[in-house]
Amino acid sequence: MTSYLNFTPDSEGFFGEYGGAMLPPPLIPHFKELTEAYEKVSRSPEFLDELKYIRKHFQGRPTPISHFRRLSEEAGGAQIYGKREDLNHTGAHKLNHCMAEALLAKHMGKTKLIAETGAGQHGVALATAAAYFGMECEIHMGEVDIKKEHPNVVRMKLLGATVVPVGEGAKTLKEAVDSAFGSYIGQADTAMFGIGSVVGPHPFPKMVRNFQAVVGEEAREQFEEMTGGKPDMVAACVGGGSNAMGLFAGFIDDEDVALYGVEPLGTSSNLGDHAATITFGEDGDIHAFRTLVLKDAEGNPAPVNTIASGLDYPGVGPEHAHLHKTGRVTYTSASDKEALKAFYELSRLEGIIPALESAHAVAWAMREAKNHPGKNILLNLSGRGDKDLDYVVDTYGFGE
Ligand SMILES: Cc1ncc(COP(=O)(O)O)c(C=O)c1O
Repeated sequence: MTSYLNFTPDSEGFFGEYGGAMLPPPLIPHFKELTEAYEKVSRSPEFLDELKYIRKHFQGRPTPISHFRRLSEEAGGAQIYGKREDLNHTGAHKLNHCMAEALLAKHMGKTKLIAETGAGQHGVALATAAAYFGMECEIHMGEVDIKKEHPNVVRMKLLGATVVPVGEGAKTLKEAVDSAFGSYIGQADTAMFGIGSVVGPHPFPKMVRNFQAVVGEEAREQFEEMTGGKPDMVAACVGGGSNAMGLFAGFIDDEDVALYGVEPLGTSSNLGDHAATITFGEDGDIHAFRTLVLKDAEGNPAPVNTIASGLDYPGVGPEHAHLHKTGRVTYTSASDKEALKAFYELSRLEGIIPALESAHAVAWAMREAKNHPGKNILLNLSGRGDKDLDYVVDTYGFGE
């Protein structure tokens, strides 16, 4: 692990001024137990060997890097490469931290996993991990997302999970997190919260980042093998920020590699029309940690909107807020329209149907490539688009 990763966050879970754990008193002992267990297993050769075995023989890792030749030609300028997390078992990067979280839960003697899901990718991944380890699984999901991401709801149920529909507020990801945390509080003795991104109170942002770092570690080696060097630019979409932190982890100590996080600009830059938290947010607290937050006039988390359910969150991982503040990562955005165009183009030009979330990173690369002839861009193709097919085709057709 690189030196930045070894020293960040601090022992209280702070990335600079962001992060921490503002927990209700009944949860404090449970988070202490989780932190201690994580710190112990992360140094245990037995745990790390078991995880390595799972990654190779169950998840199908390492996932490859593909050179998107036709997409690069179409964009004109930089050469675009993608780390193929769509080929990770269950079709997205989420399984990387879910298998590790479930393995940790097993080491802690827990028998149940609870979590929220937006696009359903995290829910499917956690349900898969629960099935693998023979655990119970309870997934909370907003009613709007249940309708939009129907195939993933079916998958979770087939995998044996209980899907709890959430009908409060906007009925999307933020409300699903509220509901899942509420349920966890009553079952913390026997259950573990398997959070879906680098968000939440300490130790989740650190733990999930480190479990996702396998993406960046592999990518660094593979890119070197493929091209003889490092990428000039590395990019990923940012919802909570786990696929981005996973890929960034491999390059964060390389000052000559520029890192880019791509947020969802939705339909416009007006509050309520997007979920670009770093671009437009302000300091605040959400779900028991300090970060950047999109706030309404009363200072509460604002309604958010994006075509990609998995990016639909008015907060962001505290490490991203920190990396924005230090300037190590540049945060930018792509609109629904750009993401949709990228969705169709990657499908037709490369034979890969991306998740709408990942399509934001593809859209950014296509926009940016022309400004960087002779350079290489590596993006995280964080997931495949099977879950989005019905929604996209029913709403927008087959593209031009
Ligand atoms: C394929 C895919 N990519 C990205 C995300 C966003 O999550 P994160 O920002 O934590 O990577 C999701 C969330 O559901 C997803 O399904």
